[in-house]
Amino acid sequence: MQRQSDGPAIQPHQTPVSRETEQMADGRIAVIGTGYVGLTSGTCLAGLGHEVVCGDVDPAKVERMSRGEVPIFEDGLQELMRQGIAAGNLTFVHGARNAVRGAKFIFLCLPTPDGGDGRADLRIVHQVVAEIGPLLDPGAVLVTKSTVPVGTAEDITAALARDDVSVVSNPEFLQEGTAVRNFMKPDRVVVGSDDRAAAEAVAALYDKLNAPKVITSAESSELIKYASNAFLATKLSFINSIAGLAEVVGADVVEIAHGMGFDERIGDKFLKAGPGWGGSCFPKDTKALATIALDRGVSFPLLAATTLSNEEAQDRMADKVRDAAGGDLAGVKVALWGLTFKANTDDLRDSPALEVALRLDTEGARLRGYDPTVSQDLPAKNGYPAVPAAGDAYDAAAGATVIVLLTEWAEFAEIDLTKVAEVAPGAVIVDGRNLLDPQAAMAAGLRYVPLGRREARC
Ligand code: UDX
Repeated sequence: MQRQSDGPAIQPHQTPVSRETEQMADGRIAVIGTGYVGLTSGTCLAGLGHEVVCGDVDPAKVERMSRGEVPIFEDGLQELMRQGIAAGNLTFVHGARNAVRGAKFIFLCLPTPDGGDGRADLRIVHQVVAEIGPLLDPGAVLVTKSTVPVGTAEDITAALARDDVSVVSNPEFLQEGTAVRNFMKPDRVVVGSDDRAAAEAVAALYDKLNAPKVITSAESSELIKYASNAFLATKLSFINSIAGLAEVVGADVVEIAHGMGFDERIGDKFLKAGPGWGGSCFPKDTKALATIALDRGVSFPLLAATTLSNEEAQDRMADKVRDAAGGDLAGVKVALWGLTFKANTDDLRDSPALEVALRLDTEGARLRGYDPTVSQDLPAKNGYPAVPAAGDAYDAAAGATVIVLLTEWAEFAEIDLTKVAEVAPGAVIVDGRNLLDPQAAMAAGLRYVPLGRREARC
């Protein structure tokens, strides 16, 4: 991704500075990058009373954010952002340089995309470090919040070549859709550095949250992030494979997950079977961790199996739709309910729904999708097929032979199945998230195919 050159700083709102903000003045925070991690982190840090300046390369976006407009779909973010702007301790400026002047803590919240070979592409991080390094005040602390490979803190320290600036890893564990809640009520705050005092100073920024603090080496902190995401992805792949097995042996994956979840060592979260996992983190981080291990000559076969199992979960979902259509998808009208990678986000990145759409499209199905956050037809992009967008779930279902529920949006659970049966008489619903009531579907005259459970029969 090309960074734009710095322009003039957009003047922060001239709201009087509160006493609390004055007290925090010598610990000013700069957040570089206002994607969903940077914007949420910056806004929440301001919500904790810190003085925060967020810098971004996109001047138009900076202007919109300065007016309190939130560029992403994130519950509670807009309100908190407007409060910070009104209190005067949350401002937005164009360019990293303008954000870091006089800052004590500089949070790097920059994109670290998959470089194509499984390794994270750190070019943007290194460009920004080179740009701001000479501008940092003595005693400043550079914090990596973006997910970065093990050894990045060390690399940044070497590139900075400044004995008077510390580098600290402080990974985020924010889930899209609940990011503000995750930030304000974290399970833990992880901070890692070889400079213990700097790590403690960063950890102290979160004092108000009363969360457990885990202070480690930079390497451990960097690895905690990858290990957590890859572990969760493995858990999901595991339950999705169990769903496949349950179908064959006549068991029920919902009952199995329920029975497993009582074991405190396993826990009941992240055990919902689905059409595979996706999003901007799990696929990228699982592959990156596998590559980190490979590069160091460490055998870690579980990670490749986790990714393969995920692809198989997507294959199985497409198999179910084909079976529902009688074995051949050519020319068959299929409605996709849900397009985003999970509910309560507008994010389509690495969406399992699109992976399933791709498989169906390849076999000649005629697709029509509905998602509460997608109002326009999706063009063919990133290898995924074009998907025409319907105005609502009924519109998408109209005349369909198969309706496949792919994203667990609450509104699908509320759907009027009688109305669905009217617009799509005789249709089969393939419920990839086990969200609907099988009895209600059958009562409405629809055939209902769940995931990893027995098909209910009249
Ligand atoms: C994830 C991590 O959870 C977060 O800590 C990290 O910092 C960023 O990556 P996110 O990408 O927002 O967050 O998605 P998450 O809520 O974890 O869901 C990931 C995928 O797993 C989605 O496709 C979701 O539908 C799927 N999932 C989740 C299931 O299929 N079943 C479940 O029980 C839970």
